[in-house]
Amino acid sequence: MTPATAATANSPLEPPHEIVAAWFHEAVDLALAHVASLPEQPAHGPAPTAADFAALAEPIPEQGRDPRPLLAQLIRDWVPKSFTTAGPGYLAYIPGGGLPTAPLADLVAGLTNRFVGISAAAPLLVALEVQTLRWLLDEFRFPKSAQALFTSGGSTANLIALAAARDKVAGEEGLARATLYLSDQAHHSLHKAAHVVGFRRALLRELPADAHGRLEPAAAARAIAADRAAGLLPTVLIANAGTVHAGSVDPLPALADLAARERLWFHVDGAYGGCFQLCDAGRARLAGIERADSLTIDPHKGLFLPYGTGAVLLRDRADLRRPFAQESAYLPQAAAGGPLEDFTDASPELSRDFRGLRVWLSLKTFGAAAFRAALAEKLALAERACAAVARIDGLELASGCDLSLFAFRVARDGAEGDALSRELLRRVNARQRVYLSGTLLRGRFVLRLCVLSFRTHAERVDEAIAQLREETAALLREPSGGERGGA
Ligand SMILES: Cc1ncc(COP(=O)(O)O)c(C=O)c1O
Repeated sequence: MTPATAATANSPLEPPHEIVAAWFHEAVDLALAHVASLPEQPAHGPAPTAADFAALAEPIPEQGRDPRPLLAQLIRDWVPKSFTTAGPGYLAYIPGGGLPTAPLADLVAGLTNRFVGISAAAPLLVALEVQTLRWLLDEFRFPKSAQALFTSGGSTANLIALAAARDKVAGEEGLARATLYLSDQAHHSLHKAAHVVGFRRALLRELPADAHGRLEPAAAARAIAADRAAGLLPTVLIANAGTVHAGSVDPLPALADLAARERLWFHVDGAYGGCFQLCDAGRARLAGIERADSLTIDPHKGLFLPYGTGAVLLRDRADLRRPFAQESAYLPQAAAGGPLEDFTDASPELSRDFRGLRVWLSLKTFGAAAFRAALAEKLALAERACAAVARIDGLELASGCDLSLFAFRVARDGAEGDALSRELLRRVNARQRVYLSGTLLRGRFVLRLCVLSFRTHAERVDEAIAQLREETAALLREPSGGERGGA
């Protein structure tokens, strides 16, 4: 053994196999025990104390130690002081859940640590990811010319889509005059993305949605015509396939027609709602989504994966490459026209995790049928919950239920309704069985209930409805509630 290899073998960074295996076994046992207790965990944990933060604020540790007590502390003391986003009672924001096949895949991807940014470095692993993306493209009936890419989430997917739109429709010459159209219900990541890829903030046309939270094609058409008449360059029309506020689906076929007629890029943000395409009921509600030039979906929402997996789907692979393909003398290139692509040519990233494995392993392990059934279940649960909320005395719906998310509020006017709705949200959440969130719709505060976790079933949704009924009745009986309203 040379001195160099002897030193390597003694490196603290290379502990013996049995020690590493023991770490893994204990960490897996701890994490799985945590998962098993999810149904009993409070729907959101207590706020961390100053002492908690102080315990984390330490100098970089010069000497190492056994990681197992550290992970035990993390799971015991720190994880619980958060929203229980993986639990069945999480009906806030956009739930995802976190299928266990994803960390299983991540474990193997991390340990084998192959490089998938360029196909020459791991052709079969890139092929696996490309195949997984093809499954998704096929679900959306995108043509063979299409290409997709796994991203870190919906925000990055939106950014990549807008970069593709910019280069296809406006180009460098047109960018200063390029306008974008979206509703005031669109996700704020689109505003960020437009800015980052160079669109002028003043040329982002945020159009008021209709009473159902949907972008009106006629309003978009008027805005496009006015901008063209003013010498601007209408460039991108953005539609929502499920708004984050109330789950509204814009009229996709009419907006696709408008974009085609006006030669605009048609981007659909389906970060929340897009994956409902996998079930029959969802596909019917998303009709027209297949006409997008670019589409954002979020497997860490609609395919129940842990955070960290979005996807962008582009109708034409050339559009995805235009902003990002950049040769570099030190890297091998994928064979032109070959079956494989270099992910780095379709993305701002070069090095990245093997993120497609978690999607592939989840679909292979459970089968697409399990996802279709779960998504159909979520749609049905939300529809039922929406009807039940509509029947609660003192509440009124503030939206329809296009997908698995709807909004409602205490049926009082103006600021009084806002205050009572905020208080209702506080009280239901304080009971710790479910966690709801709120937002503003047409300037008024509303509660929102979103069913998307694979762990959420009828019992928990029924519990949420029962608590809403009880807390609304109590709130409106109190002098500060009902009687004040009559005053
Ligand atoms: C409609 C919509 N678009 C985009 C995003 C951003 O996605 P991500 O959080 O994965 O970046 C979200 C997140 O909730 C969303 O609901």
